[in-house]
Amino acid sequence: MEGITLAAIEVLPEDIIEKIAAGEVIERPSSIVKELVENSLDAGARTIDIDLVKGGIETIRVVDDGEGIEIDDAPRAFLRFATSKIREFNDLVKVRSFGFRGEALPSIAAVAKVEMFTRKRESLEGTRVVVEEGKVKEVTPAGCPPGTAIKVTELFHNVPVRKKFLRSPLTEQGYSLDLISRFALCFPHVHFNVTLDGRSYMTIPPCSNIKDRLPLLFGAELAKKTVSLHYDRNNYKLSGFISQPDLQWTHTRYMYCFVNDRFVKDSFIQSAIIKTYRSLVGTKKYPLVVLKIDVPPEKVDVNVHPSKLEVRFSEPAQVFQLIGETITKALAKTYTGWSN
Ligand SMILES: Nc1ncnc2c1ncn2[C@@H]1O[C@H](COP(=O)(O)OP(=O)(O)O)[C@@H](O)[C@H]1O
Ligand SMILES: [Mg+2]
Repeated sequence: MEGITLAAIEVLPEDIIEKIAAGEVIERPSSIVKELVENSLDAGARTIDIDLVKGGIETIRVVDDGEGIEIDDAPRAFLRFATSKIREFNDLVKVRSFGFRGEALPSIAAVAKVEMFTRKRESLEGTRVVVEEGKVKEVTPAGCPPGTAIKVTELFHNVPVRKKFLRSPLTEQGYSLDLISRFALCFPHVHFNVTLDGRSYMTIPPCSNIKDRLPLLFGAELAKKTVSLHYDRNNYKLSGFISQPDLQWTHTRYMYCFVNDRFVKDSFIQSAIIKTYRSLVGTKKYPLVVLKIDVPPEKVDVNVHPSKLEVRFSEPAQVFQLIGETITKALAKTYTGWSN
């Protein structure tokens, strides 16, 4: 291989560092939707409106009725590693919020134009912040309802290679809709409204239980053919649903796992489910499953990767066994012939 001539070593300018770091977190419109909705949930929102134009490539707008931000804090939200959620390294161990790195807003602002309106409920006035090229351009008092509204436009205008790798608006829209369904599954008490290209697409009213969300997300017939999962002992709580054995899929798309309210695509959890399911049902296919695992924060590390899709348990063997037992018990109810 022909070598390249290496230049002297120099620290990269700030704006290039920002863009590289942003690439880790912001890959496509759905990454932005994820970060904004997580912030809204962290802010205690009860209603979250998500508007996408051209699959989010042209505009993404997320509006919440959460706690809002003070005028003095509002521009600081766009600084890298600025967060209101942890104060010291030890807090990382027990963090329950989605965010804690303070990376999302600066990463979005590094690759798109961002306009934010935000108001604390007790404040008489709100704040408008405009950020372009990662720099806060405007901070002005503004009239707006309590909560936070963030509009993202001109995505990847300054990173053309990223823009080129985006798929069609319909495909990008699909990624965001999948993501929103996952949030809707995990947070039944939150009201979600989705608007696509100016038209109302989906209204997901709040309800008391995940079970009530199944018909809306999977259809009434399928929802009826699920059995509930339940375990609650020794600090481990498992809940959710699994499809009856006569319903099977050739893909894992309907396997939804959440650990402490975070969606994960964790091979360890998946293999625990699949192994149990297959040995009981005698199949090579996959179930529909919604499995929520709640453990004390110190028993799980969610800090494995910025996209946080994988987790590491401190007692993996125990978790593996609990998943197996819980699924076995649930499926046993569907087989009258079983002794269990
Ligand atoms: N929708 C929102 N409502 C209230 N505060 C918000 C919202 N979005 C962001 N913030 C504030 O901005 C800060 C930075 O957000 P972000 O960059 O996503 O970092 P993180 O969520 O990791 O703290 C948050 O810690 C929070 O204080
Ligand atoms: Mg965040």
